[in-house]
Formats: sequence, C-alpha cells, structure tokens
Amino acid sequence: MTVGTRGAGGAAEGSPEGLAPRRAAQLFSGAGRLPDGTPVRVRPLAAEDRSLLLAGFASLSLGSRRSRFQQGVSDAQFERMLPVLLDTVDQRSHVALVLYADGQPIGVGRLRRFTSDPDVADLAVTVADDWQGRGAGSVLARELLDRAGYVREIQTVVGQDNPASLRMLARLGQLRSDCAHGTCDVIVQVSDSAAARRRDAA
Ligand SMILES: CC(C)(COP(=O)(O)OP(=O)(O)OC[C@H]1O[C@@H](n2cnc3c(N)ncnc32)[C@H](O)[C@@H]1OP(=O)(O)O)[C@@H](O)C(=O)NCCC(=O)NCCS
Repeated sequence: MTVGTRGAGGAAEGSPEGLAPRRAAQLFSGAGRLPDGTPVRVRPLAAEDRSLLLAGFASLSLGSRRSRFQQGVSDAQFERMLPVLLDTVDQRSHVALVLYADGQPIGVGRLRRFTSDPDVADLAVTVADDWQGRGAGSVLARELLDRAGYVREIQTVVGQDNPASLRMLARLGQLRSDCAHGTCDVIVQVSDSAAARRRDAA
C-alpha cells in the first residue's frame, strides 16, 4: 500500500515521524533505478509510520485496494489492520519496506514468514496508482527477498485479474497458480541461485 502525500502526518519528508533526521537518513539505501531512469531508495517500515500508512491507503484507488486485499477495504477497516500491518513488523519474520522516488513514498512491500514453516513466506506489494506499471513493484519484491534472508517459497493469493502482480511474482522464481472463482493460489519456488545466495549469507 502506499503513500502519496509529502510528509504525511507532519513528518519530515521521507522520515518516520519522531526519528531524528540523521537517524532517519541512515535508514535509506539506494535501490537502483526504474526502467525509465528514475532513482529509487528504500527504507524499512518503522513503528512510527502509522500516519504514512494511513495517508497512503487513503490516496489509493478502490481498484488497487481491491487488488491488494481481494475485497473492498474502507479507511476505517484499514486502520483496524494496523496492529498486524505495522506492530508485528520485526524485519525478520515480517519484513516491510517503503520505496521512495522523487522524495516521496511510492510503495510499501511486506514479506511475512509462515510460523508453520519459516522458509515459506507470503509477499505483498502495493504501489501508488500514479507509479504503477513503471517497475516499482518489481524493485520492492526483489528488495524484500534480498533483505529477508533465505526464503524457499512464496505462497500468496492474487486476483485472477491482476496480471501485474502475477508477473511481478513470476520474476522471483518458478510460479504455479491454481485459479478459481476469480482468485489464484500462487506458489513461487524462489529461484535456486538467489535462494542459495541468501541462505549462504544468512
Ligand atoms: C501489483 C503491483 C504491486 C505491481 O507493481 P507495479 O510497479 O505496478 O509493477 P511493475 O511495473 O514492476 O511490473 C511487474 C510486471 O507486471 C507487468 N505489468 C505491470 N502493469 C501491468 C498491467 N496493467 N497489465 C499487465 N501487466 C502489467 C510488467 O510488464 C511487469 O512484467 P514483466 O516483468 O514481465 O515485464 C501494483 O500494480 C499494485 O500496487 N497494484 C495494486 C495492489 C496489488 O494488486 N497488490 C498486489 C498484492 S501482492
């Protein structure tokens, strides 16, 4: 989910609210460029990012909300999800990142390991409507896997009418999907070379 407003909630541009500017600046890493040449940066989602998440969701189209959650979600319903979407982020079993371009937050991605098998994870990305289709989702998905450590398999549910999500996931490894009644259960075997590299580095 996303963010389109500058300094959402009164925070300095790009900074989690309540963090000193130097500390906030240290959180950012370069994440390369989008295919059109736009440089992008990424930082971990922080506990102070409540306003950023709320502002981002408020600016998201109904179509993108439905694509993300497989159903319509109101602002109030989203706010009730924050204990899961924000408070459980530990950057280990629940990795969450914010992507920036042109000094603005343009996307949020998260990877959550299954408690039943921590080598398997769900992965979800939301990019601001104005930035969709420009490569930002693919950058976030790659950054999530790069930072998460070893992940053998992604398991998630995607709308059958969401080719961008399906193609973004297919870039991560071998994708199988089982589609019925408008949704697809998706399994991605994270590509061997990338998975092995992360396992060795862990
Ligand atoms: C799904 C989403 C995260 C993808 O991010 P994005 O920045 O738009 O996607 P990218 O530009 O990185 O493109 C990813 C792939 O989808 C393709 N794609 C992008 N938009 C597309 C569209 N409208 N139709 C078909 N394919 C599309 C791209 O060509 C690319 O495929 P390729 O690598 O084979 O060339 C983003 O569109 C989004 O936030 N959608 C709403 C929320 C959502 O559906 N989240 C998914 C939950 S996992």
